[in-house]
Amino acid sequence: MNVPSPKRAASDGETLVKVALAERSYDIVIGAGALASLGERISALRPGVRTAVVTDRSVAKHWLRQTEAALMAANVPVAQIVVGEGESSKSYDVLQDVTEALIAARIERNDLVVALGGGVIGDLAGFAAAVVRRGVDFVQVPTTLLAQVDSSVGGKTGINSPHGKNLIGAFHQPVLVVADTDVLDTLPPREFRAGYAEVAKYGVLGDLAFFAWLEANHGDVFKGGAARQRAIATSCRAKAAIVARDERETGDRALLNLGHTFGHALEAATGFSDRLLHGEGVAIGMVLAAELSAQLGMIAPEDAARVSAHLVAVGLPTRLQDIAGFSQEGIGNADSLMALMAQDKKVKRGRLTFILLEALGRAVITSDVEPSTVHAFLERKLR
Ligand SMILES: NC(=O)c1ccc[n+]([C@@H]2O[C@H](COP(=O)([O-])OP(=O)(O)OC[C@H]3O[C@@H](n4cnc5c(N)ncnc54)[C@H](O)[C@@H]3O)[C@@H](O)[C@H]2O)c1
Ligand SMILES: [Zn+2]
Repeated sequence: MNVPSPKRAASDGETLVKVALAERSYDIVIGAGALASLGERISALRPGVRTAVVTDRSVAKHWLRQTEAALMAANVPVAQIVVGEGESSKSYDVLQDVTEALIAARIERNDLVVALGGGVIGDLAGFAAAVVRRGVDFVQVPTTLLAQVDSSVGGKTGINSPHGKNLIGAFHQPVLVVADTDVLDTLPPREFRAGYAEVAKYGVLGDLAFFAWLEANHGDVFKGGAARQRAIATSCRAKAAIVARDERETGDRALLNLGHTFGHALEAATGFSDRLLHGEGVAIGMVLAAELSAQLGMIAPEDAARVSAHLVAVGLPTRLQDIAGFSQEGIGNADSLMALMAQDKKVKRGRLTFILLEALGRAVITSDVEPSTVHAFLERKLR
């Protein structure tokens, strides 16, 4: 019998998640050791392509050699562009270095940029790909948990402006995402934990069964193996579904900002420093959003307590007082936090938009919370 051969499926043990965006659709491949298949997947997608891997120094130390080997094994030519690590690389200066290096490496319209790293590299390399030669395609190889479950999916790319984070950028979807769950083994534990806040976020905002599964299985997610892969795949599926509904964040995609209005203000209040990693700010922000929802009578106080208990169980900060150097001088007062929230680019015509919970596992977007209510709430939380 003549059975049509299936499109290349995920190999043994890998999970394939599709991001359905018509002609911009792409696959997310998730699995232990998936990096080894990178060259083969790229040459299947784009025969004859040349690549340039953009990465940072720490990631290069651990994973650049394997990445190049995977590409070369499939006869995919590869150039390397290594930048310094950290948020400061999302700058005009480093963008210039990367775009010039891409041109020097003769990356042309049909070639591919490979972003090998965390969210910083994904945002920077993705934006460089969006603008060099008016746009070349790129592949995400996320190496942090945050990048595997969040930043590598959805096509937001960009750099920071002196006026604020992520203010210069473009929507530019990758053509493929390869998330090797083993790559996370070299990630510092604090970074892994911070990324986990985004995993828990998907449960809290839209999937109570997943949240309950995380409550029972978080130990295994941290250890690695099948539970980690399942948590990452479930998160990617959740993000992919929301992005497919609302690619440009005109509606539903804002649900992904659960915990982020408070979280960004706290990151800004601590100068985007080591005192508070992004995911840690999201953890505290998510608990504040749940508590504010409870105060407004939208959910039961026990549901808010359940969110916070889970994040405490994995070792994440959940209270303003958990922030290093906490004091009203150390992170500001309710007025200054309100001012920082108002600067967030998610603010529309002066109204603060909050993502609140109408049930545990069901978030809603709302802009009708009175600023005075939020102010009083923060004053209490700061005590
Ligand atoms: N585009 C989006 O949709 C989106 C979403 C969320 C966050 N972001 C952006 O992501 C950035 C944060 O990303 P992040 O948390 O991944 O930070 P990051 O990219 O700075 O990585 C954190 C640190 O871990 C190191 N590292 C990365 N992978 C490693 C590995 N496997 N082993 C050892 N060390 C490793 C990096 O060198 C860095 O020092 C922020 O700039 C944020 O704005 C973007
Ligand atoms: Zn986030």
